[in-house]
Amino acid sequence: MLKTLDQQARLTEEAHRLYGLLRSVSKSKAAKWTYEDCLAAAPYTLAINRFKKEQNAVILAHSYTTPDLVYGVADFRGDSYELALKARDSSADVIVFAGVWFMAETAKIINPGKKVLIPAGRAGCTLADSMTGEEMKKLRAEHPGVPALCYINSSAEVKAQCDSCVTSGNVFDIAQKIPGNELIFVPDMLMAQNLEAELKRRGTPKTIISSGGSCCVHDKYRPEHVEKLRADHPGICVLAHPECPIEVCELCDYVGSTKGMASYVAASDAKTFGMLTEFGLVNRLEAEHPDKTFVWPFGVCSYMKRNSLINTLEALIDPRPDQVVEVDPAVAQAAKKSIDKMFELAK
Ligand code: 13P
Ligand code: SF4
Repeated sequence: MLKTLDQQARLTEEAHRLYGLLRSVSKSKAAKWTYEDCLAAAPYTLAINRFKKEQNAVILAHSYTTPDLVYGVADFRGDSYELALKARDSSADVIVFAGVWFMAETAKIINPGKKVLIPAGRAGCTLADSMTGEEMKKLRAEHPGVPALCYINSSAEVKAQCDSCVTSGNVFDIAQKIPGNELIFVPDMLMAQNLEAELKRRGTPKTIISSGGSCCVHDKYRPEHVEKLRADHPGICVLAHPECPIEVCELCDYVGSTKGMASYVAASDAKTFGMLTEFGLVNRLEAEHPDKTFVWPFGVCSYMKRNSLINTLEALIDPRPDQVVEVDPAVAQAAKKSIDKMFELAK
């Protein structure tokens, strides 16, 4: 009986901890986190945090995953670049990557001695899945001598064919450092258009050769969405990810990575922000800035949302084969060169 009471007390304490962190998430929406939701999540967060300690595991969560993961169990939360750095420098025995496959695959490539787990299993990404290594090889053969950058949202096989990898947070600066007036940038054709325009604005123009991929979340935004946000909320500050179409980005107040958007909000005096990005980042900003209002038209990445407390616990206790990340050693070695080059160029 005493043990039961003690367990009950710990659950209540954990539910209060979670509620303190999540109460302002989606305060105006149906996806609001209630105390009852936190109480239901508490047994999982307690168990995950216990297994994590026992196994010397670290949990990295992309900001697009759900708030119970981001705030309940993650040791680090962030964008692709920040999480890649954390994975590279981690001394934990196990890296649990709550994100999509290319992110966990990158973690395994740059820290191959670790056991890398992905709760969501082989969760894809429409960008990473849009191009094969063979297609990249062919593209390079069609443009001999032209340097090639790949977005981190690409497979290890594509990374292995490129000179350097980039993320949304460093693509403009790295591309600017690459000599020549032509550049291959894959696999995001919309980011390629944004890149070409930004390089022109900076006075270092280049012709960008790309492939045909796009993000199924960000490619849906249209100028009308920005116009409606501005009409409905006078004074609103509109933020977009560079995976959005160029005609949308050109109407926004800020275009940048998920980390860039978070930093912009933190530094801004504005009170209301229009968010042309995935819901998870909106949730994060609501949790971290309860005094600000975030208006989000739509946009959910179903791949990111495959990560849950339940499959995180499963991965820690007894991972399914598809939750264990392995990369062919020859491909990994070549892909690592392009990721290491990014770390060097991003300094
Ligand atoms: P960030 O690196 O900006 O977090 O972007 C990752 C991503 O998948 C965006 O859709
Ligand atoms: Fe890929 Fe888009 Fe999902 Fe990001 S939001 S992981 S780019 S499908």
